[in-house]
Order: sequence, then structure tokens, then C-alpha cells
Amino acid sequence: MQIPLLTINNKSVKYPIIQGGMGIRISLKKLARAAMNSGIVATISSAQIGLFKPGFQKDPVGVNQEALKDEINAIRKTNPDGILGVNVMHAINHYETYCRFLSQQDIDFIISGAGLPTDLPAYIKGTPVQGAFIISSARAAKIMLRKWDRDYQYMPAFIVCEGPLAGGHLGFSKAQFEAGDVESLESIVTTTKKVVAPFEKKYDIKIPIIAAGGIHDGKDMAHSIEAGSDGVQIATRFIGTKECDASDEYKMMVLNATKEDIVRVSSPAGLPGRAVRNYLTEKLKTNNITVTHCVDCLKSCAKKDIPYCITEQLGNAANGDQNGLIFTGAKAYLMNTIETVDDIVSSIIRSCQLELQKVGGM
Ligand SMILES: Cc1cc2nc3c(=O)[nH]c(=O)nc-3n(C[C@H](O)[C@H](O)[C@H](O)COP(=O)(O)O)c2cc1C
Repeated sequence: MQIPLLTINNKSVKYPIIQGGMGIRISLKKLARAAMNSGIVATISSAQIGLFKPGFQKDPVGVNQEALKDEINAIRKTNPDGILGVNVMHAINHYETYCRFLSQQDIDFIISGAGLPTDLPAYIKGTPVQGAFIISSARAAKIMLRKWDRDYQYMPAFIVCEGPLAGGHLGFSKAQFEAGDVESLESIVTTTKKVVAPFEKKYDIKIPIIAAGGIHDGKDMAHSIEAGSDGVQIATRFIGTKECDASDEYKMMVLNATKEDIVRVSSPAGLPGRAVRNYLTEKLKTNNITVTHCVDCLKSCAKKDIPYCITEQLGNAANGDQNGLIFTGAKAYLMNTIETVDDIVSSIIRSCQLELQKVGGM
């Protein structure tokens, strides 16, 4: 078996790896540049990207747009040709405004998860920016493809299948996790491929299927390719890099986490999230944490009686507070030292190639 070639928006990358978007302010220009320089796809996260800029509390949407523009322009100055995307969670307020704004920027794709972005093509169709989505079941992929086909005659640039080991918000409910009723990543990839096939035929295009969630090394990548994926999306492994935009405190919390330190927390976004156990996750077992200032970030946030404010706590973590919300993936405990993005990519590709050779010549 061979490592597939990944093409998005008519551009190809050396290796079929997407550096996953990480909010708040974890995957920005430093990580994006390093990803592109290593021959993979870069994604910045739009989530409250302007949080620490002047005027944010008064006009978060305007300040976020300015911050996005600055970040994208800075990346394009050094990396004009690489594949660059922006992650915009569907769960946020002003989703349409952000997507319309981003459709005018120098990026290759907008990718949305945290809900089903059934309306994304309405904001980007006809622009140079392509749309992609993240799902955690073939059923969700089918709903999305049918909707985009019927309402917009539009197909995604690629689809990310996110399994139960991912970091950040998760596509499975608390009840599903507790009942052990979560589908494996390989199974999501295999079943999604079947759902996608008739749409690829209808539009005469290839829709790459990207596996995400717990891809730590080359063996994980090879297994997902064997299951039928055209590439992988990796986020957590890139937190432990010199180039990641997270604070040193954030990186150390992730690197020092043991298996038992990686826990699920419920989020005001209405989905479970995965994070490093700390003062915050322990306190939340018995108490809510008072919200100091609401910027109306999420569509579904109840505002009253929420356990904590997600923007505030992810923002605290981004700012170096080890008691903030430290999102991470299930395999973070395998990481111990700071590496470079290039070292990680090289070692993953090397061992993935070796693994695939065992399955049947390169
Ligand atoms: C710190 C962190 C923040 C994340 N933030 C976002 C986000 O803002 N939007 C999103 O769609 N996914 C987000 N994710 C999910 C990743 O983009 C990715 O799909 C997933 O984490 C892949 O699994 P891995 O972390 O095991 O590699 C986040 C993940 C992490 C670890």
C-alpha cells in the first residue's frame, strides 16, 4: 500500500496530514507556518482569536475578524503557496458573518465541526474558498452530503471523520461514552467512504476522507489508511512542539499528563470535551464557576446556570493559566518532550511507510 496523495482546492501537499485547528489561540501562525514548511496542510482556529486584543469585550465579532485577517496575511507573507484553512465551529454565534468574511480572504478552505454546518455553502459557494466538514458517524456524513447536494449542488473539499479519541469538543454524547457506545475511528472511516461513493460518482470528483482523533504515530496513520482514509488530521501531537502557539504552561500541562489525567468534561457548547485534569475539572464536579463577562459566543449556551464560560476558561488556559481549560486528546499521555513539527511529521511518515510496506509493497 502507498501513502495517498492529498489534493485540496487544486493544490497538493507532500504528505497527507492536516494539522487540525485548535482554539482558543492554540493553532495560529507559528504552528501553521511550521506545518506548511513540513509539507502538510495547516489550519488556524478562528475561535475567539481576537480575545486579547483591545476592544474585544465591546466588539468581539469585529475584533475577531481583524485578528483573522492579520493572522492570515502574516502567514501568506512567508507561505504564499501552502494549503491553509480556517476552522469555524458551527456552534458559534455569527457563524454566517465569519464564513462570509473568510470567503474573501487568502485561504483554501473553511472547515466546520461542533454541529452540522448544513448552511456553509450558502456563504462560500462561488468564491475561491472551499468548504469541508467534520463528522463522527457515516449517518451525519449522509445528512450533510444530501443537504449540500439538494440545496446547493455543492460538495465538500474533504471530510474529516473524527473518532472518540480526539481532543477538544467530541462528537459523541456523555451517555454514549458511559455506555461504551462509541464507534471506532476505523469503522467511521469505512462506513463514511461507502456513503460518499455515490456522491463522488454523481459529481465526478474525489472527496478525500481524513481520519482524526488519536493519530499519534505512523502506525496509527497506517491503520487509518488501511481502513480507507486518504490522510489524517492531527492536533494533540502538535501541541507538544516548539512552534505551537500555545503558552509554555499549556504545553507542559499536556506533556506532563498521565493517562489518568486526561478526562472528559461537559461544555456549554452542549458536547463533551476532553481536557487535562486540573483544579478546574475537579472543581466542576461539585461547583459552577462564576462567569465574569459574557461575549455571547455560543448559539446554544444557556447563559444562566452554566457550569463555566468556555471562552473564559479556554482563554485563561491560552494565557498560561494552568487552572484554565486545557483541551487535549486521549493520547497526550504518550507525549513527553517538546519536539519540532518537522521531526514529528518525518517520523510519522517514515514509520507509516514501513507499516504500509508490510501490508503490500511501496
Ligand atoms: C486543544 C485543542 C483545541 C481544539 N479546538 C478545536 C476547534 O476550535 N474546532 C474544532 O473543530 N476542533 C478543535 N479541536 C479538534 C482538532 O481539530 C482535531 O480534529 C482533533 O483533536 C484530532 O484528534 P487528536 O487531537 O487526537 O489529534 C481541538 C483539539 C485540541 C486538542
